[in-house]
Amino acid sequence: MKSLLIKNGEIITSIDRYVADILIQDGVIKAIGKNLEKPSSSTEVIDATGLFVLPGAVDGHVHMELPFMGEVSTDDFETGTAAGVAGGTTSIIDFVIPSRNQDPMEALTAWKEKAKKSVADYAFHMSLTWYGDKVEKAMHHCVKEEGITSFKTFMAYRGAIGVEDHELIKIMNVSKKLGSLITAHCEHGDMVVDLQNRLFGEGKTAPKYHALSRPAPLEGEATGRAVMLARMTETPLYVVHVSAAQAVDAISEARARGQAVFGETCPQYLLLDDSVYERPDFEGAAYVMSPPIRPNGHQDRLWGALKSGIIQTVATDHCPFRQQGQKELGKNDFRKIPNGAAGIQNRLTLLYTYGVLENKIDIHQFVDLNCTRPAKLFGMYPRKGAVAVGADGDLILWDKNKTGTISAKTHFHKCDRNIFEGFKTQGGPLKVIVNGRVQFDDGNLKVERGAGRYIRRNLGEHL
Ligand code: URP
Ligand code: ZN
Ligand code: ZN
Repeated sequence: MKSLLIKNGEIITSIDRYVADILIQDGVIKAIGKNLEKPSSSTEVIDATGLFVLPGAVDGHVHMELPFMGEVSTDDFETGTAAGVAGGTTSIIDFVIPSRNQDPMEALTAWKEKAKKSVADYAFHMSLTWYGDKVEKAMHHCVKEEGITSFKTFMAYRGAIGVEDHELIKIMNVSKKLGSLITAHCEHGDMVVDLQNRLFGEGKTAPKYHALSRPAPLEGEATGRAVMLARMTETPLYVVHVSAAQAVDAISEARARGQAVFGETCPQYLLLDDSVYERPDFEGAAYVMSPPIRPNGHQDRLWGALKSGIIQTVATDHCPFRQQGQKELGKNDFRKIPNGAAGIQNRLTLLYTYGVLENKIDIHQFVDLNCTRPAKLFGMYPRKGAVAVGADGDLILWDKNKTGTISAKTHFHKCDRNIFEGFKTQGGPLKVIVNGRVQFDDGNLKVERGAGRYIRRNLGEHL
């Protein structure tokens, strides 16, 4: 593999900022310093003067080709990871999701097969959709043999992939013994079903009733419950896609007590409000996801939680469904609209434009939230999420002056809608280097199907 020398970039990590050269050989960072020499005549040299050099971003929450609500999310592991690379994301963690009563190991085999075509490195969380001997055995196998050190539980999606509290408690007890991390989708599943049916029974079928059937207090209640179960079982907890102020409060209280509770939010919850559901011609369906986009007020609480460290990561929950042929299945019944939207390409430019440039977070927090902290929590650090000797050669050469407008017409997501359509951006990746190879260059993808490698994760840092 050709070596790569990046000259004079301004390296920005979660704690440092300095100008230096970086030498990558065999896909790994071999040296960082001033005036590094080309080790051979074949070394490719990139002049990064004036650019930021950031660690490749880790998206800890994506769903590629996920069978869900009778449909399959439209980005597969190849197109989804490619869109990620275009946005500076060089590693993903996808969720293996067995159906209820399916052996998790059988589902893992299927996910491994699907993921082989990834263009960037990938790992898995294992979702546990029920509890029994097979599940307990699978949890041990995942941690000890597969390098899968986090488990996902859904408190929503009753009757499908959701678990009951007594199952969640058993899962937490096993996880505690293993030292793994429990992640949870927190919404009061039974109450959501009741509200959905009540609204539908009243003839309320439009996309906006999706949001009204999943109000913020139900997320707050479930987050508080998950926190309590984690506290009693003495297990670390990571709350995915936090959207509501009530959930922020539950996480904040737990952390103030010294409990190992972590939170993740996503750009859609920071930047959109529930007026999106009023869009005419069924366009509100593009924003149907769970939890839903919240009313005004919640967004400021989420920004504050990022700034103050109550929430530690930003992921995307990338799970695209096309309006045509997929979302429209719920034209007459909001309960049938497949839940999810695309976002893997847009996370960094959005967080930079609307976070860093608006002084809601600083540049080091930007790196920590998107790159370093997810790598640490999920046991991939310092191989991922770091600009350091020995780390994988995953880097973003970030152009502060690059401007753009997000659109479904130009994005790399395999989806006919972009929920950030028309958002102006400033700053973005000029070049993205994955395992020592430039795979995105000034707007052009140069990815290779199957180049991504499976990442066996260690136990994460949960303090
Ligand atoms: O609506 C969403 N979020 N779809 C993906 C599944 C999940 O709950 O994360
Ligand atoms: Zn979820
Ligand atoms: Zn998700």
